[in-house]
Amino acid sequence: MLLIKNIGLLQTSVGTGCARGIAQRENLKLRNAAILIERGKISEITSDGVLPACPRGIAELDAKGLLVTPGLVDSHTHLVFGGWRQHEVQLKLKGASYLEILRAGGGILDTVRKTRAATEEELYNKSLRFLDEMLALGVTSVEAKSGYGLDLETELKQLRVLKALNQDHKVDIVSTFMGAHAVADEYAGNGNAYIDFVCETVLPAVCEQGLASCCDVFCEDSVFNVEQSRKVLNCAKEHGLKLKIHADEIHAIGGAELAGEVGAISAEHLIATEEAGMAALAKAGTVAVLLPQTSFYLAKQYAKAKRMIELGIPVALASDFNPGSCPSLNLQFAVNLGYLGYGLQPEEILTAVTRNAAYAIGLDKSVGTLEKGKQADIVIWDAPDFEMLCYRFGSNQVHSVIKKGEIVV
Ligand code: NIG
Ligand code: FE
Repeated sequence: MLLIKNIGLLQTSVGTGCARGIAQRENLKLRNAAILIERGKISEITSDGVLPACPRGIAELDAKGLLVTPGLVDSHTHLVFGGWRQHEVQLKLKGASYLEILRAGGGILDTVRKTRAATEEELYNKSLRFLDEMLALGVTSVEAKSGYGLDLETELKQLRVLKALNQDHKVDIVSTFMGAHAVADEYAGNGNAYIDFVCETVLPAVCEQGLASCCDVFCEDSVFNVEQSRKVLNCAKEHGLKLKIHADEIHAIGGAELAGEVGAISAEHLIATEEAGMAALAKAGTVAVLLPQTSFYLAKQYAKAKRMIELGIPVALASDFNPGSCPSLNLQFAVNLGYLGYGLQPEEILTAVTRNAAYAIGLDKSVGTLEKGKQADIVIWDAPDFEMLCYRFGSNQVHSVIKKGEIVV
């Protein structure tokens, strides 16, 4: 048992499922609150200086009048990869675009070569340190994608690393199979044959071994077109996976519309999405997982987050941590950019990095809000309110992190 007392402000969205439209900015705000935790779950929340009834002598944590929120959920990362790609920055500064670098055999394909060359143990140790860093930054659940193998062996290797990390590390991990991240070198110039290989060989093996609960595809100009993406997603649906799609990151080629058509749980990036794509997402109730750090790092426009909320699309914000388009795993920076780049309200942003993010990765029944019965994944912030987190940037504003009722930071 643990009693967190002297909480200056407890702020959380309330409910299971996602929040959309004006509900995205509805946050419960309790002053002078306390949380009682039993067996890793929240058993009671009180406010206005009232303390929950609990046995004498139980462990207590003094929140010192600070802000308390649910643990953050990073709903889009490419956590497991070999090497880095720092040399690409010089290419970009000389004018090369992200897709030009990829078309020349660099970008994702460069990381594929490094990930194939890395041992399972090397990948495990590297990713474990990333998870330590994320937890220290207030992130208690993470989605992570494969997609730097593009062959059977390495896709499975990446996913096995994630499975082991999920067992060994405090942070909860949801694994996504993303074999359709780029056309493997062996299939250069023959995207259709590569898609057949993904659908007929890799995806069935991933599912047989129970290594993923979601499937993602990079639907983009000169990567996978709508028809190829549809094929992968329909195949994943038959295998019972939740569907995700990298849509309209650089060009709007119909990825958002496809997300609506196949009933994807989320469409991610959506930097270039216009009204028709947004209408499809709103109709299907697909979560827009927006990645403002990628807009920042690729020097692209910011997704139309305010318009999406206005249309009733549930919005989540995530890091997109990867070695190319976003070498940062700091979800607190996504919060800053959600405020300054998207112009969202602090309450909308809190919902976007907790409840809606949890829903986008299928964890909303257990995490993403502070409510009786939910897992006690909690952050105490060195801040009086969430507006402060939106405003200050570059420093880690975490005071402490509680994961499943245990003080871990
Ligand atoms: O979300 N666009 C596809 N995937 C990643 C980038 C991966 C990489 O460049 O290594 C993204 O931006
Ligand atoms: Fe991504």
